[in-house]
Amino acid sequence: MKILIINGPNLNMLGVREPEIYGRRTYAELCAFIQDYCKDNGIEAKIFQSNHEGAIVDEIQAAYRVFDGLVINPAAYTHTSIAIPDAIKAVGIPAVEVHLSDISKREEYRHRSYTAEACIATIAGRGFEGYAEAIALLKEKLCRE
Ligand code: DQA
Repeated sequence: MKILIINGPNLNMLGVREPEIYGRRTYAELCAFIQDYCKDNGIEAKIFQSNHEGAIVDEIQAAYRVFDGLVINPAAYTHTSIAIPDAIKAVGIPAVEVHLSDISKREEYRHRSYTAEACIATIAGRGFEGYAEAIALLKEKLCRE
């Protein structure tokens, strides 16, 4: 089983960026956490991060017929991008949206997610653990099919 994990803008700044919201652990630690979880669960994982919407769309398109599942934290693009959910729908890969923070309890402009409608579930406010939960959910779904 191959899962692609995509992280959007500013997530590479984890550890430095607003630690009171996102915590003090770094992006490298997040990648290690995801890779360890996938290794323990027999999943092949690729982690991709970009600060550019088009690069994220390109990566989703390139996943067509290559990856079985997609975990995506589109970061700020969650609230602005139509191209990202369109790309997820285009490739038809089951996707789970993840947010480190609980976007429903933050500024009103973060309450709206355009990505959510292209995903089978959204996990928010669970920190790093949210990525493990998203991967477990995809594994369960893919094993059932
Ligand atoms: C985020 C929440 C977004 O609103 C924000 O723009 C981010 C990170 C999260 O993981 O909590 O960059 O996606």
